[in-house]
This record gives sequence, structure tokens and C-alpha cells, in this order.
Amino acid sequence: MEFLSHPVIIAALGMFALGWVASGDGGFVHDCAYAGASLTDNHWLGMYCLNDNVTTWGYNYTWLDLDGCIGNNAGQLFVIENGSYSGTCTNCTIAHDTTLNLTCSCWDTTGHHIISTLDLNTTVFDFNGSAGCLSHMGNKTWEPESL
Ligand SMILES: *[C@@H]1O[C@H](CO)[C@@H](O)[C@H](O)[C@H]1NC(C)=O
Ligand SMILES: *[C@@H]1O[C@H](CO)[C@@H](O)[C@H](O)[C@H]1NC(C)=O
Ligand SMILES: *[C@@H]1O[C@H](CO)[C@@H](O)[C@H](O)[C@H]1NC(C)=O
Ligand SMILES: *[C@@H]1O[C@H](CO)[C@@H](O)[C@H](O)[C@H]1NC(C)=O
Ligand SMILES: *[C@@H]1O[C@H](CO)[C@@H](O)[C@H](O)[C@H]1NC(C)=O
Ligand SMILES: *[C@@H]1O[C@H](CO)[C@@H](O)[C@H](O)[C@H]1NC(C)=O
Ligand SMILES: *[C@@H]1O[C@H](CO)[C@@H](O)[C@H](O)[C@H]1NC(C)=O
Ligand SMILES: *[C@@H]1O[C@H](CO)[C@@H](O)[C@H](O)[C@H]1NC(C)=O
Repeated sequence: MEFLSHPVIIAALGMFALGWVASGDGGFVHDCAYAGASLTDNHWLGMYCLNDNVTTWGYNYTWLDLDGCIGNNAGQLFVIENGSYSGTCTNCTIAHDTTLNLTCSCWDTTGHHIISTLDLNTTVFDFNGSAGCLSHMGNKTWEPESL
């Protein structure tokens, strides 16, 4: 039971487990332990998400490449297929309250950096334990292996 080494995350999942549903168009904060999410190399989002039957399959961890669905338009993060924002944005962080925000410092057209924030719940979804966005699906692993 390796996941017992993550008591805070599992407690948060237990809270969500009472009423989760699969969601295909945004709305992952209902089904994923977003408060314990991590962001690596500015664009890899990792977290626990509920699959269709945790009794059978247990809790798996998912990594999603946000470059597949977020771009940088003149210093503003926005949702677009294969936007690859991490090529022109830096110092990205995630922060949560009732949702999970991505905040980066992004180049604008005049060569300055602008701080920009995007609510990831508008875009990222959970499908059976894998986080996804637009046409991109994250993978599933057993433990949150570091990148
Ligand atoms: C997250 O997105 C879902 C689906 O769009 C929406 O129903 C829900 O209200 C959103 N939650 C927050 C906290 O924004
Ligand atoms: C989960 O899987 C178990 C074992 O196969 C089964 O008994 C249970 O009904 C399943 N739960 C749901 C919600 O599908
Ligand atoms: C996005 O990138 C993926 C993988 O690189 C590629 O297969 C797909 O065709 C691209 N989508 C668009 C709309 O360019
Ligand atoms: C990124 O963060 C570092 C350390 O806080 C800071 O020195 C640097 O100016 C920041 N870069 C941008 C483009 O915001
Ligand atoms: C997330 O962003 C929204 C605006 O997009 C803002 O109202 C909210 O305070 C932000 N939350 C956090 C934790 O940064
Ligand atoms: C859900 O995930 C489980 C475990 O990875 C897998 O066995 C099952 O086939 C998946 N169900 C669907 C509908 O993809
Ligand atoms: C999932 O993706 C992450 C990021 O690319 C990678 O480090 C990890 O090895 C992958 N895990 C599996 C089981 O594919
Ligand atoms: C979830 O983790 C279990 C235990 O390692 C593994 O057997 C299963 O294949 C994982 N599911 C996925 C979809 O990676």
C-alpha cells in the first residue's frame, strides 16, 4: 500500500470520492487531488485523479503535458492545441483555492515579460484517472515518480 505514504493527498481524495463523476470538458478539480498537484519544468502537471473504480484499480497518479493545450498570445496564457507556452513563458507556478491556477511570466511582442494566470479547471479534465486537455491525455502511473 504505497499510497499510504501520502496521507494528506489520500484524505483529500476521500473527500472527493463521495460524489465524483467522469468529466470530459474541464472540471478536473472535482475529481483530482489538485491541492497536492505538482508542476515540473513549467509544463508537466502531476496529481492523483479518481479512476472509474478505485476499489478495483486503486489510486494512480497522472502526468499531463500542459504544452499540449496552452499557448502564449502576446504575454497571455490561453487555451490552444499544441500551444507550447513553456517555450516563451518561464517561472511558472500553480496555486489553488477552489480551483487550480497556472501563473507564468510570459514574453509579449515587445520583448517584456508579463505575469499571466489561467484557471486550469476551464480546460483540464479527468478521464478514468488520467488528466487530459483538448485532444491530449496524460499517462497513469502507480506512484508520483519525479521527473
Ligand atoms: C470546474 O469546472 C466544472 C466544469 O466546467 C464546473 O462545473 C465547476 O463549477 C468548476 N469549478 C470551479 C471551482 O471553478
Ligand atoms: C468496482 O469493482 C468491484 C470489483 O470488481 C465491483 O464489485 C464494484 O461494483 C465496482 N464498483 C463500481 C462503482 O463499478
Ligand atoms: C499536436 O501535436 C501532436 C503531437 O506532436 C500531433 O500528433 C497533433 O497532430 C498536433 N495537433 C495539431 C492540431 O497540430
Ligand atoms: C524568474 O524568477 C527569478 C527568481 O525569482 C527572477 O530572478 C527572474 O527575474 C524571473 N524571470 C522572469 C522573466 O520573471
Ligand atoms: C485564480 O485565478 C482567479 C482569476 O482567474 C482568481 O480570482 C483567483 O483568486 C486565483 N486563485 C489563486 C489561488 O490564485
Ligand atoms: C479505466 O482504468 C482502468 C485502470 O487503468 C482500466 O483497466 C479500464 O479499462 C479503464 N476504463 C476505461 C473506460 O477506459
Ligand atoms: C508518465 O509521464 C511522465 C512525464 O513524461 C514520465 O516521467 C513517466 O515515466 C510516465 N509514466 C508512465 C508509466 O508512462
Ligand atoms: C496503477 O497502479 C497499479 C499498481 O502498480 C498498476 O498495476 C496499474 O497498471 C496502474 N494503472 C495504470 C493505468 O497505470
